[in-house]
Amino acid sequence: MQTQLAKGIFWVGCVDWNVRDFHGYRTGRGSTYNAYLVTAQQNALIDTVKAKYAPDFLANVRRLVPLEQIAYVVCNHAEPDHAGGLPETLKACPNAAVVCNAKCQDALARHHDTTGWKWRIVKDTDTLPLGGKTLQFFDTPMVHWPESMATYLPEDALLFSMDAFGQHYASSAHFDDAADMGEVLQEAKTYYANIVLPYGRQVAAALGRLSALNLAMVAPSHGVIWRSHFARILACYQDWMTCKPAKKIIILYASMWDSTRRMADAIGAGAAESGADVKVIDVAATSDTEIVTEVMDCAAFAVGSPTLNSGVMPRMAATLTYLRGLKPKGKSSLAFGSYGWAPKSIDEITRYLTEMGAAPVREPVACRFAPDAATLDNCRAAGRALAATAT
Ligand code: FEO
Repeated sequence: MQTQLAKGIFWVGCVDWNVRDFHGYRTGRGSTYNAYLVTAQQNALIDTVKAKYAPDFLANVRRLVPLEQIAYVVCNHAEPDHAGGLPETLKACPNAAVVCNAKCQDALARHHDTTGWKWRIVKDTDTLPLGGKTLQFFDTPMVHWPESMATYLPEDALLFSMDAFGQHYASSAHFDDAADMGEVLQEAKTYYANIVLPYGRQVAAALGRLSALNLAMVAPSHGVIWRSHFARILACYQDWMTCKPAKKIIILYASMWDSTRRMADAIGAGAAESGADVKVIDVAATSDTEIVTEVMDCAAFAVGSPTLNSGVMPRMAATLTYLRGLKPKGKSSLAFGSYGWAPKSIDEITRYLTEMGAAPVREPVACRFAPDAATLDNCRAAGRALAATAT
């Protein structure tokens, strides 16, 4: 049975149950590529799917309408998880025109041979009457690509929100009220932290416009469709777009001979004296996907590595590079680590933290070889200083 969102509107996407690496993002619960069919006097598809799922997607559509009767394929976003199936879709739907904005047309032409494609280029707030239903388009630049767009269907108060409000969450349930809301919100948070985090200002601008619409249902391009709990995800976005800090301290470390690990545990113990939620995380045992999700809503974080080859441990370098790119806002920080000859790791960690805009709570804690009791006392004091930022 096809999933129907409202009369004549169907989910025709695909579930990618076992994808575990999404361009470096660890997708522990798989994903979905949501696409939708709007049936009216003229039929329209809203987005497609990853290229390898195009035959399955087209079979889903064909079960509902002949492919020759598809008049439009809306492309809200040119990224290949949604537009990769576009070339095969247009071959199978000979009467369909691609509906997108000018930036998306340019991006599609740089991904695909678009020779012979029919286009309908739309601008912000333009409408497209389908006969009985109307599509209206809203540019949402940098949420999360320059050409990103959302499509609104006023007759059903339904917003196709593209990546916004999405989750990498494979499920046989397509609606929020049929899924485990704890899992869904955790995956929505992970999605925000790993995909949308650098664009808080643009998210705020998009939410300001889109949340003013009459919304009965919000259908993103990944994960469940919001029809009962949209207020919950909207409230979460209000917090995430500002990286609103919880009373939470994160200690990230890499270690070689356990010295930096012992320092990390002592910093964590000092921070925990305040009653803050403290997590001590070995970056060699934890994905960067999880790490940035934890850092997004912390008040402060510490970063520790021994000095290796005049720098940090390679796994820590990878984590710091990832965090620097996503740039969680408004965090306080601390650098620490052990060394043998010169505390070069501290210099490198400090450079990354500065580039992230994470202000230090105090001077770094460096330790030659193994930490003695005085060093561990100093680490606990540093933990207390970190926790003082969490109110
Ligand atoms: Fe799900 Fe930005 O693509």
